[in-house]
Parts: sequence; C-alpha cells; structure tokens
Amino acid sequence: MTTACYPGSFDPVTNGHLDVVKRATRLFDEVVVAVLENPSKRPLFTVDERVEMLRRATAEFDGVKVGTFQGLVVDFCHQVGADVIVKGLRAVTDFDYEMQMAQMNKRMGIESAFLAAKPDYTYLSSSLMREVVALGGTIDGLVPDFVIERLKEKFAKP
Ligand code: PNS
Repeated sequence: MTTACYPGSFDPVTNGHLDVVKRATRLFDEVVVAVLENPSKRPLFTVDERVEMLRRATAEFDGVKVGTFQGLVVDFCHQVGADVIVKGLRAVTDFDYEMQMAQMNKRMGIESAFLAAKPDYTYLSSSLMREVVALGGTIDGLVPDFVIERLKEKFAKP
C-alpha cells in the first residue's frame, strides 16, 4: 500500500489543489492532505476552517484523508506512514523552491513526486484568490463555489 502526503497551506483550497489531489488518488492507494498549522504565516482561514473546506471539497474522492501538521513534513509522513510527498508544479517559478525542499526531504528519508499542473490552473494561487475577492473581483470556476462564499464572508464589511 502506497500512501502519499500532499502538504500545503491551503488558505484556501483551489481547484488547482483539488486537481492534484484527484490525480494523486489514481497513482497512490491513499492520499493524506496535510494542512500546515503555522501561526507565524498569519493565514486568512484558521486551520480548522481550512481542514473543513478541504474535507468538503474532497468528500467525493476515494482514498483521501485530511490532517494537520506542525514542524517538519517528513515527521508527519512518518506518523501517517506516507512513503512519498506529492506536489503540483505550476511553472518554472515553482521549480527552484520545490527542488530545494524535495532534495532536503529526500535527505531526511522521504521521496517527492511532482504532478504538472493542469494548464487551466497554472496561474492559480491561494494568495491570488484572496486578493481578487478582497478587491471585489470574481474567481468563478477557480475554487469550489462554497469557498467563494467563505472568502466573501471574510472580506465582508461589518
Ligand atoms: O502551500 P505552501 O505554503 O506553498 O506549502 C509549503 C509547505 C507547507 C509544503 C512547506 O512550507 C513545508 O513543507 N513546510 C513544513 C516545514 C518543513 O518540512 N520544512 C522543510 C522542508 S525541506
């Protein structure tokens, strides 16, 4: 049985993330989405909110679990029995950082596998989604509809 860990901030989950999860379920027996709990990053959504959105968005997928972690992703991999870290690569701009992390994680005992982002989603990022909604723009089709509502609630004027 091969378990993959898909780590990230997911603040919030995008359709690009969901495409990676879905494709990973076809390659690995189990995919554990690992939400980084890092208060120093000052996320827009709490870790519980991010987990809840991911659980809802992946409810129809087979073999997906969602968990949280602090500290090293390789330690989380050992805890959940993951053999490999799976990540999406959107563009060459992701490459340097992802390569550094993959090499360091390999040194610490865990392999990485990269999935080329679907062309429709290469420009997506959680930060761009937050910014566009905060400034009144539309992101239909780029995140699940319920995530758009959550973003609007966060940026609603009191
Ligand atoms: O969605 P993000 O913020 O780009 O995800 C980055 C993440 C969470 C994958 C990365 O920061 C990470 O793995 N953090 C955990 C700490 C760790 O293991 N650092 C060493 C990596 S070599």
